[in-house]
Amino acid sequence: MAFRCDLIIRDATVIDGTGAPRFKGDVAVNGDRIMAVGDLSAAAGQREVIATGLALAPGFIDAHTHDDRAVLCGPACQHCKVSQGVTTVVVGNCGVSLAPLRMSRRPPPPLDLLGDESWFTIGSFAEYAEALEKRPTNVNTLAFCGHMSLRVEAMAGDVYRAANDREIAAMQARLAEALAQGAAGFTTGLYYAPNAQATTDEVIAVGEALRTHGGIYMTHMRDEADEVLASIRETLRIGRECGRGSTNRDSGRESGRGSTNRDSGRESVGDKPVEVIISHHKCSMPENFGRARETLALIDSLGQDQPVAFDVYPYPAGSTVMMPERLRQDVPVQITWSVPHPEQAGRDLDDVAREWGMTRKAAAERLLPAGAIYFQMDEADVRRIMAHPRSMIGSDGIPHDAVPHPRLWGTFPRVLGHYVREVGLFSLETAIHKMTGRTAAVFGLPGRGTIRPGNFADLVLFDPATVADRATYANPTLTSLGIHSVWANGEQTLDPAGLTGAAPGRFIRNPRLAA
Ligand code: ZN
Ligand code: CU
Repeated sequence: MAFRCDLIIRDATVIDGTGAPRFKGDVAVNGDRIMAVGDLSAAAGQREVIATGLALAPGFIDAHTHDDRAVLCGPACQHCKVSQGVTTVVVGNCGVSLAPLRMSRRPPPPLDLLGDESWFTIGSFAEYAEALEKRPTNVNTLAFCGHMSLRVEAMAGDVYRAANDREIAAMQARLAEALAQGAAGFTTGLYYAPNAQATTDEVIAVGEALRTHGGIYMTHMRDEADEVLASIRETLRIGRECGRGSTNRDSGRESGRGSTNRDSGRESVGDKPVEVIISHHKCSMPENFGRARETLALIDSLGQDQPVAFDVYPYPAGSTVMMPERLRQDVPVQITWSVPHPEQAGRDLDDVAREWGMTRKAAAERLLPAGAIYFQMDEADVRRIMAHPRSMIGSDGIPHDAVPHPRLWGTFPRVLGHYVREVGLFSLETAIHKMTGRTAAVFGLPGRGTIRPGNFADLVLFDPATVADRATYANPTLTSLGIHSVWANGEQTLDPAGLTGAAPGRFIRNPRLAA
């Protein structure tokens, strides 16, 4: 084939994102698209990159982020992601989305993970979509609408209770509007105190907009510890009931916790369960170590009848807001930020409590509002979950923390370096698939996630022999090794010297929006 194009990456080891074995080849890019793949020795590129010894993969899709605000503040704000090879981020997770919500007081935690009230100024999803299209960014964004954001608005901030029918109707209308304006679905964070009193029925009623408009249900489940199995059942039931419509639904009223075992009867013709994604799947707390065997078996058995996937980050510690009432002596805690005591960020809570001459709980209360890392998982479970064929890699990085969890800067290279090369948990092809082709298929991203002619030229060139994370709990913002170059929509966003400053990122509108 003789042709001219903008860019040819030659002699790369192509890992195409489908999970298929690697092959040697050239990839041609013209405009924002991949033009050809194979032996392109007769073709000429305006620019050519010799990639001998390097692997070329689809740009990584970060399946779980809290980058709602970071994607609005310019290419430098995504250095943590682009330096890992990421070209697309999924925002609005755990029930927490920047839009649609205007705040005049500090948002209740965990909504404040995204910032104080000065950041909550976007009154509709259309405005958020417009801002994403206008502001320069170097990653593509798929955005979800968060239940907590809807609750804070509909319940006028009085959220530590179940919503009433009027409030539920308001949330449902707001979600429907957001989906129509480009939101890819609905997320919840039922684990968190301000949402925990939302009943399963509340979530199903709000989520009805997913059936009428099209979208995914994604959740930080009510319980990831002792009641993790009940939470999985609740999540899958929400997916089924949201797809069923109110007239066909179970008549029995059920409330949230512990009442989700009762699966209702057959679905009527035309009912189609809404796709569900379990966020950062884990089995939390020492007494539940090893239980990923049970959770994965349950997900597989329920998943025979309805679409379900999950994301996972490659670390045995989680991170979120500081929750003094949930501290346990057997779970070490590292402080990630504190409004009244910013100088304590990065320190162990026990050390601070000792210095202050008080209990851990009292010290945690004194730090509020604050964030923390919790060392609450079993490494063997993390590996089981990551290795499962339904998993996708998502960082769950929290971009505005003073001393963040290292997953923000290290997730993708950690999977490729530590878990593929050092541990041998799965093949490089499988790892790439969980970061690209699988993720694009689960979210329904058109033209992304695989190296194929006609697809968008989202690409990462890396060295499989040296790729590695350097971010640690002590030094969480060190950039990774071995990521050579990154392109998004055909434009280079990272070269060996660092960020290029190019901002080709796009807003990806709800791919499931019903016509
Ligand atoms: Zn979460
Ligand atoms: Cu999250």
